[in-house]
Formats: sequence, structure tokens, C-alpha cells
Amino acid sequence: MTATAAESAESAGTAESPESAESTGPIVRLDNVRKEFGDTTALDRVTLHIRQGEAVAVMGPSGCGKSTLLNLVAGLDRPSSGQVVVHGEDLGALNETGLALFRRRRIGMIFQFFNLIDDLPALDNVALAAQLSGVPAGQARRRALELLGELGIADRKNTYPQQLSGGERQRVAVARALMNRPALLLADEPTGALDSRSGEQVMDLLIDLNQLGQTLLMVTHDPRLAARCASRLVEVADGRIVAERAVERTA
Ligand SMILES: Nc1ncnc2c1ncn2[C@@H]1O[C@H](COP(=O)(O)OP(=O)(O)OP(=O)(O)O)[C@@H](O)[C@H]1O
Ligand SMILES: [Mg+2]
Repeated sequence: MTATAAESAESAGTAESPESAESTGPIVRLDNVRKEFGDTTALDRVTLHIRQGEAVAVMGPSGCGKSTLLNLVAGLDRPSSGQVVVHGEDLGALNETGLALFRRRRIGMIFQFFNLIDDLPALDNVALAAQLSGVPAGQARRRALELLGELGIADRKNTYPQQLSGGERQRVAVARALMNRPALLLADEPTGALDSRSGEQVMDLLIDLNQLGQTLLMVTHDPRLAARCASRLVEVADGRIVAERAVERTA
């Protein structure tokens, strides 16, 4: 990976940060978080602190609360009780506009099914993230093209998502997530919909990004992804964190 992605990762979490004093503390802090959906308790008494530069993998059976946890950190949802602080911002204190701004500035997100816009070619899918933040179109497209180049798919810039392979789509989604130099990259089963070869490519990408300093919080069913990409494993069952351990990364 060359300079651009490196700069993107290295500047993550530090660039224009009004809370740079925070950078010594955890970048993610969930304290005693509970989340209910009607009668369902999706998360209960969850406390998790993530330091800058860590790669944390959340694992656990279907329905145990993994996506719920990620969505709370992303500011896509609010806890029923407890506190979620990300990059120095207490998300509970932000209104909807504040949360939208927080997501745009601080968070990059990758999903299992890519969530690309079908009507836009790859380049515009990536550039859009910055344009929504007010970056002029030309500048956004230049950076988008650089990122696609870093991820090895510059030649697919004019291709629409449906004509891309799964691995290519996910790389477009990773480029989009990196567009605004996020302090935190969140990934919800990023290899779940990929064949093993495309999955490997996305794993390699996540490892590279983390080695360049990008903080990563990912949800996965795949023990290999966790073993290769994560520095810490968090196991969730029935809405509770039941085990945590540091990972000796495999090659
Ligand atoms: N928006 C919602 N409304 C109602 N219930 C929800 C909502 N989102 C999640 N739940 C419930 O909360 C629990 C946790 O869901 P969550 O999506 O976090 O699980 P998960 O661990 O990500 O599962 P999977 O591995 O299948 O993706 C489940 O019982 C689910 O049905
Ligand atoms: Mg899920």
C-alpha cells in the first residue's frame, strides 16, 4: 500500500481533532450499556474500551447483539441506558444532526452486503461520502480515484456495482469508508458475503490498514478473520460480553 492510504490511516483520529487530548485515552468507551428493543434485551451491562490503533473482533452467535453494539458505536442507534463515548464525544449528548455529523467525520463503515448505490459507478460511490461533507466534487473525485488505486481497482472506476465482483464491491465499500479519514473503521461481517479468495483480499486490506494505524472494530462469524486481523477478541453471548482475550496474530 502506498502513501495515500498510509496517510489516510496515520492521520486517522488525529487530524483536526478538537479532542486530541483524548488520543491517549480509549477511542471507544462503552460503559454499562443496555439496549432494549421492545421486550428484547439486545445488550446488557456491556463495558468495552478500545484504544487507538487496536483491531477488535466481536464474535458470537446470531442474534447475540453484535450488530447492535456496532450500531451504537456508529451513532446509528442510542443505548437504552449507559454511556457511549467515541473519539471524545458522548453520543448520548448529540441530537440527530450532531450524530449525522459525528458519523460523517469520525466513522467509516463497511457492511456485509456492501450497501453501494447501484445507480452510481464505483468512483462516484466513493466520492459521494466526501461530497456530502462539503468537499468540492473535483477534489472528492481525485481522492476517490487515489483510494481506488490503493485498493487495486482504479480500472473499475466507471463500473456500476452490479458489474463488479463481490470482492471488488467490498473494496469500493472500503474506499468509501476511508474517504473522510475516519478515526474509527467499523466493519459488520465484511467477508460474510464473499468467496474465500475475495475474503482473503479484504482481510489483507484490513490488516494493512490496521498496521498503518487505523483503529478497527469488526464483527465476524469467521474465526480465521478474527485470528488474522484482530489484536483482541471479544466474545458476546445473549447480549453480554462473556470473554475477552488478546490475539497473537497468525501470518
Ligand atoms: N431494530 C430492531 N428492532 C427489534 N429488535 C431488534 C432490532 N435490531 C436487533 N433486534 C434484536 O436484538 C437482538 C440482537 O440483534 P443483532 O442484530 O445485534 O444480532 P447479531 O449478533 O448481529 O446477529 P447476526 O449474527 O445474525 O447478525 C436480536 O434478538 C434481534 O432480533
Ligand atoms: Mg449482525
